[in-house]
Amino acid sequence: LLDTDRKDSAKLSRKFSLPQNLEAENASLKAAFKNVDFYIMSRVKSKHNYIEKLDKKGEALDIFGDKIIILAVDGKTDEDLLIQIAYLMENFLITHDPNVTELFRKRKDYIAEPKKNGYSSLHTTRIVHVPDKDIKFYRETQIKTFRMRETEKTGTAGHSSVYKNNRDLFL
Ligand code: GTP
Ligand code: MG
Repeated sequence: LLDTDRKDSAKLSRKFSLPQNLEAENASLKAAFKNVDFYIMSRVKSKHNYIEKLDKKGEALDIFGDKIIILAVDGKTDEDLLIQIAYLMENFLITHDPNVTELFRKRKDYIAEPKKNGYSSLHTTRIVHVPDKDIKFYRETQIKTFRMRETEKTGTAGHSSVYKNNRDLFL
């Protein structure tokens, strides 16, 4: 089951030219934020997790998902500074490419309003148009500081999803 699942995700990823898409966007992010230390984790949701989410929520627009983790700016790690960068990156992500548009109803600002469990992060869902293939797909990007990333992994905000991560395809 796990293998078929991953194969499906890999197929999806190829169909939407995701690796090229990712590389291009990561490169422009790096170029626009030369003074920022950050890394990006990208994954394709497994078919199993997709179906599970559809059943539970009625829609799943995060088949393609990225997390941007901000570590430092100009060598400084003050949380306030990193948060400023998070908003600048969000703005960049929704404006840098005419083929990418924001899906406003899916924006979540858990930095301005953290969840009760302590979870904090800035979420944006975008519609990515691939002109040469004439297809569109949704992509959910979570932008967070290193500290927010640590909270997400542990404590009451932690994801109890070891098996889930095994099914998803990490790029
Ligand atoms: P989904 O339909 O599940 O995407 O929920 P939503 O549309 O209300 O979006 P939201 O931005 O709240 O959640 C999207 C994603 O953020 C989830 O799939 C998780 O990956 C992550 N997330 C949201 N809340 C938490 C939390 O409390 N802890 C952790 N670890 N992750 C969270
Ligand atoms: Mg979501």
